[in-house]
Amino acid sequence: MPTSPKNLPSAAPLPGLPEWTGFCEAALQADQYALELHCLKAAGLQVDLSGQRHSPELQKAGEQLLVARNFDAARKSLLSGGIVNNTEHRAAWHSALRAPAPMADVAKERERMNEFVRVADSERRWRNIIHIGIGGSDWGVRLSLAAFGYRHSWRNVRFLANIDGHALDHALSGMDPHDTLVVIASKSFTTTETLKNGQRALEWLQAAGVANPYEQIVAVTARPDTASNWGVPQKQIFQFWDWVGGRFSLWSAVSLTTALAVSSDVVAGMLSGAAAMDQHFQEAPIASNVPVQMALSGVVNRSVLGYGSLNISPYDFRLGNLVPYIQQLDMESLGKSVTTSGEPVGVATGAAVWGLAGTDAQHTFYQWLHQGSDGAPVDFIVCQQADHQQPEHHNLLLANCLAQREALMRGKTYEQALAECQSQGDQAAELAHHRVHSGGRPNTLIVLPRLNPFSLGALLALYEHKIFVQALIWGINPFDQWGVEYGKVLANGILQELAGEKDASAEHDVSTRHWIDAFKR
Ligand code: F6P
Repeated sequence: MPTSPKNLPSAAPLPGLPEWTGFCEAALQADQYALELHCLKAAGLQVDLSGQRHSPELQKAGEQLLVARNFDAARKSLLSGGIVNNTEHRAAWHSALRAPAPMADVAKERERMNEFVRVADSERRWRNIIHIGIGGSDWGVRLSLAAFGYRHSWRNVRFLANIDGHALDHALSGMDPHDTLVVIASKSFTTTETLKNGQRALEWLQAAGVANPYEQIVAVTARPDTASNWGVPQKQIFQFWDWVGGRFSLWSAVSLTTALAVSSDVVAGMLSGAAAMDQHFQEAPIASNVPVQMALSGVVNRSVLGYGSLNISPYDFRLGNLVPYIQQLDMESLGKSVTTSGEPVGVATGAAVWGLAGTDAQHTFYQWLHQGSDGAPVDFIVCQQADHQQPEHHNLLLANCLAQREALMRGKTYEQALAECQSQGDQAAELAHHRVHSGGRPNTLIVLPRLNPFSLGALLALYEHKIFVQALIWGINPFDQWGVEYGKVLANGILQELAGEKDASAEHDVSTRHWIDAFKR
């Protein structure tokens, strides 16, 4: 039997709701683009939604749909620590980690982390850091390090997420074990990859004759007892809480590595930017509430227009890791097909998220975006001001971003293409067909004044809240991830078979059985 949500109104499947029918009709009749600039502001970011479906009727239908979904109550519950994750009966209170006046436990852990960094810096310890963690215990740190640590840092950081032994070799090679801090980040402290890699790092310290290897290991976890049983000294365990989802744990002491590698100010700045976005999400009216408006466009694109994916194109080298970060945030949250009460959602939900930073993307998949049969909505992200001394480069970057966006929106008709061919002295009418762009691709342009911790924090919180609102409209729980469990269970069984400890061949399909046998040999 489907579970009934504890603290959320039961979400009826959308197809039965008159507000949904009204929303779909308004979306289909809306202008493809806003006829006047539709640019909103939130926490210092400018978000231009002119490239999305737009009409006063659609705006009104969106508001009615949100009312039907009890948006006000759901938002309040999220931001005040209500049980919004009904299948795990938990809050998803990551906003509490960045509250300007945090609760005592949160403030205490933050201060412990800052003190750890102060001492390490003053003693000039830990020239090397190995950050071990995966998914939400990894991507946020990689993202902030690439964003703010791309210039020289006296600390050398290696990330170790994957179970692949090559990744382990890469993480350890050339590091001096006597001046290495191993940071093990894991909410559950049970994740196979993380614990195995942590064990190997410990053995590496031991093999190098480090006097007290556990003194060189730090844990960041919501299971301090488990970390302590593993051997990490109490004073080196930084805690977060059950009510912080793994993919939201960047706001906790998981960012210790960022603080060590770049500075505690970076972490503090990101927290402030995210808090500013929380406040905007909480207070801004629906029509100017950026996460809400982005979510409504997301639902139109996915469930009304049928786009199966969302492209993220950050025109900033430093935001290369934004794509996998948003991928996990969005796809682990919205990759669901049943409502909070276990019924089929009845419409298409979370899109596949993909992308690449900078103009590299243009030379990789933009052909598909412009002229492929499917196309995808694009989130363009760019900084108005750069932090380098190459104005010509920045102008080129900005020009490329605007040009790709305009081409995707405006398209090019056959007549235009033909005239272009003829003006270039090419009379071949057939070639004109190859130069046609259908146009009409939805997009959002997000402009950061410049990339700093505040703007990055605001940007990440913007996506968090957008995803929350989309989930609310679809009636799904964005805070669980049951889908990833099944494969983990199967992997444990196959592992035993590969080790020759059991034979479960009758349970497998013919191909899996074949490859277990082949790999065993
Ligand atoms: O991939 C599933 C998942 O549970 C993610 O949600 C999480 O970020 C990741 O594994 C790592 O989990 P943990 O932090 O508990 O090691």
